[in-house]
Amino acid sequence: MPDRKTALITGASFGIGLELARIFAREGHNLVLVARSADKLRQLASELEKAYGARSLILAVDLTDPGASAYVLDQTTRASIVVDILVNNAGFGQYGLFVENDLEECLRQIQLNVTALTHLTRLYLPEMIERKSGRILNVASTAAFQPGPLMAVYFGTKAYVLHFSEALANEVSGTGVTVTCLCPGATATEFHKRANATGMRLLRMGSMDAKTVAEDGYRALMAGKPVVISGVRNWLVAQSVRFSPRRLVTAIARKTQESKSQ
Ligand SMILES: NC(=O)c1ccc[n+]([C@@H]2O[C@H](COP(=O)([O-])OP(=O)(O)OC[C@H]3O[C@@H](n4cnc5c(N)ncnc54)[C@H](OP(=O)(O)O)[C@@H]3O)[C@@H](O)[C@H]2O)c1
Repeated sequence: MPDRKTALITGASFGIGLELARIFAREGHNLVLVARSADKLRQLASELEKAYGARSLILAVDLTDPGASAYVLDQTTRASIVVDILVNNAGFGQYGLFVENDLEECLRQIQLNVTALTHLTRLYLPEMIERKSGRILNVASTAAFQPGPLMAVYFGTKAYVLHFSEALANEVSGTGVTVTCLCPGATATEFHKRANATGMRLLRMGSMDAKTVAEDGYRALMAGKPVVISGVRNWLVAQSVRFSPRRLVTAIARKTQESKSQ
């Protein structure tokens, strides 16, 4: 298919990013798949080629490395790939009291969730504006709407992603480029296991599945919406926070973050 567009997806090896890759391939896109797990990306690329004829460039990189975003741009340029859609999805959380958490891990979280997302956006946006065409999907979280004791840095990074994306959507309005921020609530992926947060009360209230969240993100991106909160219950919770005293909101957030034993 000669006029296939290309979507670059970070964090495509698991969870929401993997489901987004499947959707983009199903909808006729080629892919640039970015994450650390090369085997998983190769497996996915082969699945998407067989199912949809999608071609994938695999970039197995750790996006917490300061040079990683420039490396990604260099590789797509060398391969003469025009990135029509940039999906900044890779992210991770770290559970526990800020003062007790490992500092290096904490800084890596900011590097991935904030710095790499900002860096990749800044690298690919100018050529999108020049072409008068492009779409950017940044994955934040419902964590973006309130402070999150016991995941203080993670919630802070997601507030950044939401506000950065909304501001950028405004700045690029009329250029042919759109910016969309996807805010999932609790979703069944590797995320909570990796964050050591599987005991949180929040998870007993139920999780969405990654495919549904990815479909919501894809639809909003294609419609050019600035923000989408996946799931009606998540939408209601995010709205309710706006009219409640912040100290109360923070105290409730702490309760939902605590584990059953706390
Ligand atoms: N699950 C939830 O409840 C939830 C809720 C709201 C928002 N989110 C957000 O949704 C996004 C996707 O998370 P998920 O739930 O799908 O989690 P996941 O299953 O843990 O997937 C995270 C993805 O990010 C990649 N990644 C992690 N560290 C990386 C690094 N240093 N360099 C490059 N890639 C890296 C992982 O690949 P490798 O390990 O192969 O590198 C993986 O593909 C994240 O931004 C997360 O904050 C998740």
